[in-house]
Amino acid sequence: MSNYHIKHLEEYFKVYRKSVREPENFWGEIAEEHFVWRKHWDKVLSWDFKKPEIKWYEGAKLNITENCIDRHLFTNGDKTAILFEPNDPNEAAEHISYKELYQRVNQFANVLKDNGISKGDRVCIYLPMIPELAISLLACARIGAIHSVVFAGFSATALSTRINDSECKMVITSDGSFRGAKTIDLKGIVDEALESTPCVESVLVAKRINSNVNMKEGRDQWLQALLDKASTECAPEIMDAEDPLFILYTSGSTGKPKGMVHTTGGYMVYTAYTFKNVFNYRHNDVYWCTADIGWITGHSYIVYGPLANGATTVMFEGVPNYPDYGRFWEIVEKHKITQFYTAPTAIRALAKENLDHVDRYDLSSLKVIGSVGEPINEEAWHWYNDNVGKKNSPLVDTWWQTETGGIMLSPIPYVTPTIPTYATLPLPGVQPCLMDEKGNEIEGKQVDGRLCIKYPWPSIARTIWGDHQRYKDTYFSAYENLYFTGDGALRDTVGYYRITGRVDDVIIVSGHNLGTAPIEDAINEHPAVAESAIVGFPHDVKGNALYGYVTLKESGEGRDHDNLRKEINQIITEHIGPIAKLDKIQFTSGLPKTRSGKIMRRILRKIACNEIDNLGDISTLLNPEVVEEIINTKK
Ligand code: WT7
Repeated sequence: MSNYHIKHLEEYFKVYRKSVREPENFWGEIAEEHFVWRKHWDKVLSWDFKKPEIKWYEGAKLNITENCIDRHLFTNGDKTAILFEPNDPNEAAEHISYKELYQRVNQFANVLKDNGISKGDRVCIYLPMIPELAISLLACARIGAIHSVVFAGFSATALSTRINDSECKMVITSDGSFRGAKTIDLKGIVDEALESTPCVESVLVAKRINSNVNMKEGRDQWLQALLDKASTECAPEIMDAEDPLFILYTSGSTGKPKGMVHTTGGYMVYTAYTFKNVFNYRHNDVYWCTADIGWITGHSYIVYGPLANGATTVMFEGVPNYPDYGRFWEIVEKHKITQFYTAPTAIRALAKENLDHVDRYDLSSLKVIGSVGEPINEEAWHWYNDNVGKKNSPLVDTWWQTETGGIMLSPIPYVTPTIPTYATLPLPGVQPCLMDEKGNEIEGKQVDGRLCIKYPWPSIARTIWGDHQRYKDTYFSAYENLYFTGDGALRDTVGYYRITGRVDDVIIVSGHNLGTAPIEDAINEHPAVAESAIVGFPHDVKGNALYGYVTLKESGEGRDHDNLRKEINQIITEHIGPIAKLDKIQFTSGLPKTRSGKIMRRILRKIACNEIDNLGDISTLLNPEVVEEIINTKK
């Protein structure tokens, strides 16, 4: 109905103004008209950014899977809900209808229950991009269990840290995964992780690669055998709007990952509403987001947002360059994809290859193309717009975060005129502002500052699992009464926003958020390493790559540097995963420090980026001479 699907620019402004003037009416009407609730809310919103405490649709009762599945059965039961495209292009795609999804989610939910999982329990999901992944999220939601998906590229150590932090009772995994020409031994990684996770009672294993895995008696069970015996009916657990739906970890400025907690009602309303508008979703569309469900993009815009709209959502198991660099476009042609949503790093990698990989496919089904995860540089924007969108599918550059749950700044296709590299305008309900370092709001146009949000939106993360103080410190303490994003942004003459990048110790590599602290912690585990500092430097495909400065202990002096480099990257791979490996490692006798002993990463960053002409004043450093040494020994 009105105001839900925005179709003109004046309508956008009208709706936006309403969302700011009467946020409760605005979000109350959307929730009322487009979702199924078991009980109405008592109050749309109560909030206090000082505590911080945010509650949406307090008192309301619902189950998100009734909204994502059951309610579509009568009208669209035979429609494809999930379209699974396997890694191997010769393996048939799988079309899972809403009816079948209903049955499979219920069976899975019954298996969870039969294995001791109930409302509020945490379940860790460590699976490749196979249908069981989406189904397991929904099965948890069906019975009110809290899912915690860990991206299946993370190492055993990273996995066990996350399992222990939220005390997961169960792990759902597979024997292994296919990734291009490679197979990965996921069960082996899980076995290693579970050596130090006393909270885990059981493991369910999906079969994907048919490898020989070790099944631990009394702990591990094959999933399919259990599903086969389970009933296809499972009554949904009736949840409070503010009950946790899931935990998803994101890295931060200390070694410990932050378990962002998202709750049920507001998250559902916001992801569904933004999906509809940002992708101009219509009934017969075939929508494809290439992200992994292990990240928030996959949670919100492969699973919950699309399914809440009754959409067909594609899950792709493989990689963009297998069997060749045309794979994405082959899939677009094959399934007549209407919306395509990917990351700048993928675009840059594909743009390096022969254009014939794109041109040999018919991409005329596309009507919206999207970008997410990091700033999209101008060259990549144009390549994507020209060669994929053919200059006639609007390109939506969507800015948001794990913490925001849903898209915050984005053009609305066919509504908002786009400008390369600009995420343009806030979506309805989002009130951005720019702040200076002293805590003053920067008003007006053509200005830049730190991006904050003034007012709650329904899908904001409510806390960090087990550490509400850290939630407060990280997001609500930099500026009074504002949510601080950690990003810098500029606002142009028409009020469009452009994200300039992180202003904290997070570096985005190939679209993955990496905190410098956990990587440094890992390196410092090496027996020969005394100290280390990580900074980012520009990389033409990854966006940023990692540069490590490492000082050695006496015991490490005289050791072969190339071997040490390999060992350091090996440790990082073990502790975090291959995505955090360093591109460059420079050994140095010291790190530049302030007199209070703080490492001056700003200087190290400039050296790594070859910006040595404007290092600023280094005379106040404790050890200015190491700056000289680092510059002179840099390769
Ligand atoms: C950080 C959040 C939520 C999507 C996946 C990443 C950066 C995200 C954009 C964009 C410029 C972007 C920001 C943000 N980012 N989208 N369109 N333009 N920067 O989620 O891992 O929580 O990372 O990604 O720096 O703070 P995430």
